[in-house]
Amino acid sequence: MSSNPTRRDVARAVGSAALGMTTAPLAGLAASSAESPKPAPGKFPDGFTWGVATSAFQIEGAVREDGRGASIWDTYAHTPGKIRNGDNADVASDHYHRYRDDVRLMREIGVKSYRFSIAWPRIFPRGVGQPNARGLAFYHRLIDALLEAGIEPFPTLYHWDLPQALQDKGGWQSRDTAKAFADYAGYMARALGDRANNFFTINEFFSIVDIGHRGIDTVVDGRKVRIEHAPGLRLSNAGLNQVRHNVVLAQGLAVQAIRAGGRAGIKCGPADNISTAVPAIETPENIRAAEIATREMNAGGLTAILEGKYSAAYLAAAGKDAPDLTAEDLKIISSPVDFIGLNIYRPAAYVVASEAASGFRPIAFSKSHPHMLSSWHLLGPEAMYWAPRQLQSLWNVKEIYITENGCAARDEMSAKGVVDDSDRIMFLRNHLAHLQRATAAGVPVKGYFHWSLMDNFEWSDGFTNRFGLTYVDFKTQKRTPKLSAAYFREAAAKNAVV
Ligand code: FCB
Repeated sequence: MSSNPTRRDVARAVGSAALGMTTAPLAGLAASSAESPKPAPGKFPDGFTWGVATSAFQIEGAVREDGRGASIWDTYAHTPGKIRNGDNADVASDHYHRYRDDVRLMREIGVKSYRFSIAWPRIFPRGVGQPNARGLAFYHRLIDALLEAGIEPFPTLYHWDLPQALQDKGGWQSRDTAKAFADYAGYMARALGDRANNFFTINEFFSIVDIGHRGIDTVVDGRKVRIEHAPGLRLSNAGLNQVRHNVVLAQGLAVQAIRAGGRAGIKCGPADNISTAVPAIETPENIRAAEIATREMNAGGLTAILEGKYSAAYLAAAGKDAPDLTAEDLKIISSPVDFIGLNIYRPAAYVVASEAASGFRPIAFSKSHPHMLSSWHLLGPEAMYWAPRQLQSLWNVKEIYITENGCAARDEMSAKGVVDDSDRIMFLRNHLAHLQRATAAGVPVKGYFHWSLMDNFEWSDGFTNRFGLTYVDFKTQKRTPKLSAAYFREAAAKNAVV
């Protein structure tokens, strides 16, 4: 199915390249084709960046060093029964001590940009108050090492490790947390903005709000799977909608604080796991239905940020449980961003057009729909084309990064010491092919960050689900690039699907 449009697209790209050549002597046409040269089939545009992504809590370890405060994930991971096998992230991938080796590793696998997160409780151990210079120094050392290696730093300010002291005062249920986040964001833009040009604000609204504050049930192979995150609450609808509001408010306040405190020219925006509706069959009606569905499914997150309002359907569904808000809040939430990061793992739904008021009908995933190792991870690489394309068609977003994409696999080290992760390579190639379809069609995707550089602490799944391009032996901390790392290096070197 999905290969047909890809082929059609490639044919179009080949056609226009040929046209560009034959019309070269015609002044007007030659000028316009020179301004927007089309990449060769399979290639990404010039300047497209190739990166890997990680997050502080999942790799750093050293949870009690250099004055770091506790985060909600420390608390959660040490609560019996929450993490598979009773794992915790006290040591994780020991990156805090091994960051130099890890930067070298990135260089070896051809990484040009690195998306990492700053642990808020290393900088402000109690969330607010006096900054902790020793915690900040770690990120200075890391950025120094990256720049020396020619790798561009893309820090993320919030990847879920809320200081526990703020949780004790209400966490994201309180508007004060949004203000505290903005203060921390402004501080970081001042502290690192001389050498980092691009900041991601908040990672994944849905994961923070819904998974963290109620937990979700999803269906895989016809079976229900429950997923929960720290702080592990089960809020009412009203409570949950208020948390959702406070988190997007934090996004807007942080953008304002970064603009106020940071050097001119610093760019920022969120990194979100947008819920993407994919047209089940590519007809104009279904393509439109999928756009409508994506807009509605993200009404409390990206849609509110990009439109400065909650949709009528969102407010109607919330009814008396709608969040407390002011008109000023909506202005803050929609503070203009420079780019949008998308974490793409799977479609939220396949949809078709419908006569119903909503305009779309989601198709249930069949019981035999293939999935990757993680229980939630249904396979649907088309999301890599549709998510960025819908950002462009719905909201005319001008700069997009794929801030995460990857999969867990049952990686095994062979007797010869190699990890041949055929499924990850399959996953990667198919997702890149769909992304390339988007860039070839003029969707402004500026780069791709693979999740993840190396195996790490995968939240409630502990160390069982390995997402790395690099295998980590958690007993010895030895790193071994998997075959997928060689695939990544080749794709990055050629700037193409390989
Ligand atoms: C994303 C998270 C990231 C990682 C991947 C597998 O939702 O942002 O930290 O766990 O899933």
